[in-house]
Amino acid sequence: MIKALVLYHSQQSGNTAKMAEAVAEGLKSEGLEVTLHNANERRFPLSEFSKYGCVAFGTPDYFGYLAGTMKTFLDDWYLQRNQPGNSGKPYAVFYSHGGGGRVKDTLTLFSRIGTIVGDPIGSRGVPTPEVLEACKQLGIKLGKSVK
Ligand SMILES: Cc1cc2nc3c(=O)[nH]c(=O)nc-3n(C[C@H](O)[C@H](O)[C@H](O)COP(=O)(O)O)c2cc1C
Repeated sequence: MIKALVLYHSQQSGNTAKMAEAVAEGLKSEGLEVTLHNANERRFPLSEFSKYGCVAFGTPDYFGYLAGTMKTFLDDWYLQRNQPGNSGKPYAVFYSHGGGGRVKDTLTLFSRIGTIVGDPIGSRGVPTPEVLEACKQLGIKLGKSVK
């Protein structure tokens, strides 16, 4: 079974976590085995990254930038980017914001990981049912990309 990682940071109100769960639902519906990892609770162990066939990244807008834990992931990844299985992955991105949303301009940082699938999904505040459906569809699209 192909494994998918949904790596996100959620801390304030659980908004990004709700989006992550919807993306995971889409991935699962395509038959992938999904790991949801909130980097706010625990640093992601980079040694496990190679086993995932695809990854969805989710971050809140913090001062117009990624959450620090997501930047830490990228820093960890960079040091091990040449290990087998750590690069060239299909990936998708989603983000939550409070009305500014300038984090959108920084999401290209993830492009080093591999090939983007779909467009980044942004949401202001509590995700609406429409946003959650779009997140689920993004998960489906990401899942299809590795089958
Ligand atoms: C430290 C901090 C900085 C923030 N900076 C911004 C910002 O610059 N622009 C913006 O639109 N929202 C900003 N926000 C709002 C969050 O992005 C928004 O509330 C988000 O939905 C929180 O996601 P979460 O509930 O998953 O933690 C900030 C929130 C925090 C806690």
